[in-house]
Amino acid sequence: MATDLGNVIEEIQSKLDIAEIVGSYIPLRRAGRNFKACCPFHNEKTPSFVVSPAKQIYHCFGCGAGGDTISFVMKHENIDFMEALNILAEKVGVKIPRFKGSSNGKSRSSASTLHRINEFAANYYNALLIGSSKANNARKYLVKRTLNADIVSKFKLGFASGEWDSFLKFAKAKGVSAVTLEKAGLVITGKENSFYDRFRNRIIFPIFDLRSKVVAFGGRVLDDALPKYMNSPETDAYVKGKHLYGLNFAIDQIKATDYIIIVEGYLDLIIPYQSGIKNIAATLGTALTVEQIRLIKRFTNNVVIIFDADEAGEAASLRGLDLLVSEGLFVKIATLPRGQDPDDYVCKNGKDGFLKIIQGADNLFDYKLKLLLKKFNPTQSEDKTKISNEMLPTIKRVENSVLRADYISRLSKALFVTEDALNDELSKIKLDYSYLGEARKANKQNFDIRPAEKIITGLMVEDPDIAQKVREELRHDDFNSQEIRDIVTVIYRLLDENKIPNAARVIHNLNDDHLSHVICEALSETENFIDREKSFKDCILRIKRDNMICKRVKLTGLIKEAEQHGDDTRLMGLIRQLDMLKSERV
Ligand code: UTP
Ligand code: MN
Repeated sequence: MATDLGNVIEEIQSKLDIAEIVGSYIPLRRAGRNFKACCPFHNEKTPSFVVSPAKQIYHCFGCGAGGDTISFVMKHENIDFMEALNILAEKVGVKIPRFKGSSNGKSRSSASTLHRINEFAANYYNALLIGSSKANNARKYLVKRTLNADIVSKFKLGFASGEWDSFLKFAKAKGVSAVTLEKAGLVITGKENSFYDRFRNRIIFPIFDLRSKVVAFGGRVLDDALPKYMNSPETDAYVKGKHLYGLNFAIDQIKATDYIIIVEGYLDLIIPYQSGIKNIAATLGTALTVEQIRLIKRFTNNVVIIFDADEAGEAASLRGLDLLVSEGLFVKIATLPRGQDPDDYVCKNGKDGFLKIIQGADNLFDYKLKLLLKKFNPTQSEDKTKISNEMLPTIKRVENSVLRADYISRLSKALFVTEDALNDELSKIKLDYSYLGEARKANKQNFDIRPAEKIITGLMVEDPDIAQKVREELRHDDFNSQEIRDIVTVIYRLLDENKIPNAARVIHNLNDDHLSHVICEALSETENFIDREKSFKDCILRIKRDNMICKRVKLTGLIKEAEQHGDDTRLMGLIRQLDMLKSERV
C-alpha cells in the first residue's frame, strides 16, 4: 500500500511545476534561473523567497521556510499532506486511489479523521435542530434571533439536546468509539472512565476551516445561563487562533470588495451575512493572532475592525492592532453605538445602516490620534509624550515611507512639536518581533556542520552522478554532523531504489523542516559553483582528511592512556592501528 502511494506521489511530483503552483498563490518575478518573491510566510519588504524550477524547491532566506511543492501547498493552505496531495493531483490530472491510513504512519491522517468525526457530529446536531421535537425551543430561539432556514443550513447550525449522552449513544451505535469522540473534543471523560456529551442543551455552531471542513464547535445556551458559549478544546484538528470563523464563506466577497470586516462573535458574523454583507469573519472573542492575519492577507490587505463603543475607549485594545500594521495591512476602525454589537446593529438598522458605519471607519492612525486627543491635552508637555508614546510604535510599523512621513507631519502639527523631535523618538523605538519566534528559530544558522559536508550535500542533490560517486567513497557515518548523516542516509536509500535523489525528493522523504532548511542552505552555497567535479572531489578529500585527523588525535590520546596504565598489549594494538592509519593515503 505504502509503495503504491509512493508511486502516486512520484507521478504527481514528476508532473508538477513548482513555479506554476507557487505562482498561482503569490506573484513571482524571474531572477536568472530562479524566481523571486516576497515571502508569504513572514512579512518582508525585499524579496528573499526563492523558487527554483530546476530543483523543484522553494526556500526563504529570511525566515528559513523551505521545501517542495507539496510542502508549499500544505503550509500555504494550512492543510495536511493528503489534502495537499489531493489538490495537486487534481491539478495535474492524476487519480489518487483510496488508501487506508496515511503514507508514513505518522499523525498525518489524524486531522482528517477528526474532520470526518466532526462532520458526522455537525450533521447529527443539524438534523436534530431541523427535525426533532426536542429542538422546539431551539428553533424558537433562532427565530427570535431573526435567523432564517437558509442561513441555518449554510452555517450548518445545530442543536444538542439536554441528555448527558444522546450524541455519545448515537455515535457509538454508528461504530465510533468513545475514545475517538473524546479526541475530537465531543465527549468528556467522567468518573471511572465513563463518558458524557460535552454539548448539552445548546445551539451548535460548527467552526469551519478555509476548506469548509468542520474543525471545532461552539455551543450557546438558550437563556442567560453561564457560560454563555462553550467551545471545543484544542485538538489535532483545531488550534485556537489559527482559524477565523466564517472566512470560508467570505472568500469570494472579500476578493471582490478587497476588504474584510472583522467582528467578534458567531452571530455578529451570521446576522450581517444573512443581510448580504458577506466579506466578514469573526475572531470568536479573542485578539487577532499572526496566523489569522496571514489568513486574511491571502485575500486582501484591507481590514475593517468593528469595535463597540466601550472597548474603543481603550488604547490598550488598539495596541493589539499594531500587529496588523506590522504585517503590512491597512487597518480601519468602525465604532458602533455604546452597548451594541454588529448583530444588534444590523437587526435595528439593516444592511445599509451597517454599511454606513463601515464607510465611516477611520484609519488606525486617525482613530488612535482622535481618541488620544480626547483623553489628553496636547498643549501640556507631559500629555504630548503620552500621546506620542502611543502613536509612534504604530507609525514605526508602517512600511511605506511616504505614509510614515505623512503621519509624522500630522502628528507634529497635532502636538505642536517639530518633526525632527518625533523622528528622533521614532528612531529610538525597538519593535518587539518575538511573535515571529518560530520563524526565527528555523532561521538559525547551522554552524556546527562542517562546510565540506554541507557543500557535498548540496552537490549530491543537484547531480545524481555526484551522489553515486560520493556513495562509493564515503559511508554515511563518515559524515560528522548528524543532520548530514540523516540526509545522506535518505540519498543513499533513494539511489538503492534507483531513484534520482534530487532536492525535492530528498526533502519530501525526510519530511523535516530543519533538514529541509539545511539542504536549501547547502544548495544556496553550491548554486554558483562552476567546476562541480573538482568541488566534490575536494570535499571528499577534506572530509576524509578531517576524519583521519580526528582518528589520529583520538588514537594518540588512547595511546597515552595505555602508556600511563602500563597496559602493554593494548598499547601495541593501538600503535599498530596508528601506523596503519598513517600508511592510508588520502
Ligand atoms: P459576546 O459575549 O459578545 O457574545 O462574546 P455575542 O457574540 O454577542 O453572543 P450573543 O449575541 O449573546 O449570542 C463574543 C464572542 O466571544 C466568545 C464567542 O465566540 C462569542 O461569540 N465567547 C463569549 C465565548 O467563547 N464564551 C463565552 O462564554 C462568551
Ligand atoms: Mn450579540
